[in-house]
Amino acid sequence: MIAVPKEYQFSQKHLLGLADYSRDDIAYVLNQSERFREVLDRPVPKIPTLRDKTIVNLFYENSTRTRMSFELAQRRMGADVVNFSASSSSVSKGESLRDTIQNIDSMKMDMVVVRHKSPGVPHYLTRCVDAAILNAGDGAHEHPTQALLDMFTLQQKMGSLEGLKVAIIGDIAHSRVVRSDIIGLQKMGAEVMICGPSTLMPLYPETLGAHVSYHLEETLGWADVAIALRIQMERQADVPGRIPSLGEYHQKYGIKMEHLEMFPDLKIMHPGPINRGVELQDAVADSDRAFILDQVTNGVAVRMAVLYLLSGSAESDASGRGVSSGQTSK
Ligand code: CP
Repeated sequence: MIAVPKEYQFSQKHLLGLADYSRDDIAYVLNQSERFREVLDRPVPKIPTLRDKTIVNLFYENSTRTRMSFELAQRRMGADVVNFSASSSSVSKGESLRDTIQNIDSMKMDMVVVRHKSPGVPHYLTRCVDAAILNAGDGAHEHPTQALLDMFTLQQKMGSLEGLKVAIIGDIAHSRVVRSDIIGLQKMGAEVMICGPSTLMPLYPETLGAHVSYHLEETLGWADVAIALRIQMERQADVPGRIPSLGEYHQKYGIKMEHLEMFPDLKIMHPGPINRGVELQDAVADSDRAFILDQVTNGVAVRMAVLYLLSGSAESDASGRGVSSGQTSK
């Protein structure tokens, strides 16, 4: 458990990004996640905490992990769940985002999980409806539950976030994960280095607040853990030629078995989906030094914790249907 002051109270209504969450908010979510992680290991991993809640998963962009993980978390907690996919909805007939969300709200939703290609859509939705809004990834802005599950996995596997050296490698320019990871990890006392070719760095990369490197081996030698990021080909259509070829990228910035041999304590993570043979050599992705599938398992627990806290159930939870406080004094 991470220390949280005794007087602390979770008072967030939404999860739009980790920029809005304090160090204690993040620590509290991670502590609660530990309790939900234990629920997932029970023979019957179901609790009735959200049985009076209705939740819509509003996905305007493709997803495997985040969408399934949110839905599984909701069902494990007994919520009524509605799934919305832009491609099979009336969006294809021209319905606006605002009309879509207001129609959904008229069906009395308590919480909305949203993924959209445009940064700021979750913030916009807070002005359209009363439901709690959870950002499941907005363009290249933030992906807060990914960063929370990354931090949870790091805490679980490495023992502490305080002083941990985390390198994030790859397509920094187009990544929402890197933004949430940097914000969250630094609030929790970790040190972050970003690394990639200059063509995949944002303008003024130092403004992200992390160390900046363009040399893979130097970065891997510094880090305790390397998080490889996917090359986001779908966001680069407007800027062709950022990298000469995927093969050349792999040669210069792909993490290979030779790196695991060179740096025997280094651990590997990846938010998925992996481009095998691009960001990671096959054998690296499948090695026992990689925590990639642990990240996916932990994602369900972290999302259960976030849903629990934002549902308001924690305030009325004297019955033990959910989990207890997760507070420890400093
Ligand atoms: N990590 C992640 O967001 O994966 P999906 O795009 O499959 O949800």
